[in-house]
Amino acid sequence: MPKRVLFVCLGNICRSPTAHGVFQQRVDGAGLSDAVLVDSAGTAGWHCGRAPDPRSQAFAAAHGYDLSALRARQVAAEDFRQFDYILAMDRANLSDLQALRPVDSRAELALFLDYADGACDEVPDPYYGGDDGFVTVLRLVEAAADGLLTAIRRTL
Ligand code: 4NP
Repeated sequence: MPKRVLFVCLGNICRSPTAHGVFQQRVDGAGLSDAVLVDSAGTAGWHCGRAPDPRSQAFAAAHGYDLSALRARQVAAEDFRQFDYILAMDRANLSDLQALRPVDSRAELALFLDYADGACDEVPDPYYGGDDGFVTVLRLVEAAADGLLTAIRRTL
């Protein structure tokens, strides 16, 4: 059975699509495309069906990640039955997910940055800020993606 990973932020147009694109590239590069399946979603449904924010796409593209095919969707209780790892970008996302979590869910629900070594434990929301925020998102996501891949490889 493949391992399934879902990245979750608020809108699913900035942080979680960045995590999705970066982690997918790590998975593909490791030859694990059939063993590790990746998706992303938002706790809010405001941007459902939309491509990632143009700023997220541009910063990701500058670092070699193509987010253009991704489309936003809202997380649902059913996701807790489909995914092995549900990884939140910040504490607000985590508490929204805890409220949605069915009692019988065995998915690992955690902060994504638990898989990084750095001092931060949240990926800050860049939506209303400047370009710096998008650079920070990419840097934090890349660090945690490496840690997550190492952890999942141990379970395969
Ligand atoms: P994300 O960023 O959660 O990283 O996708 C946001 C996107 C949209 C909004 C807030 C955060 N919004 O308020 O529409």
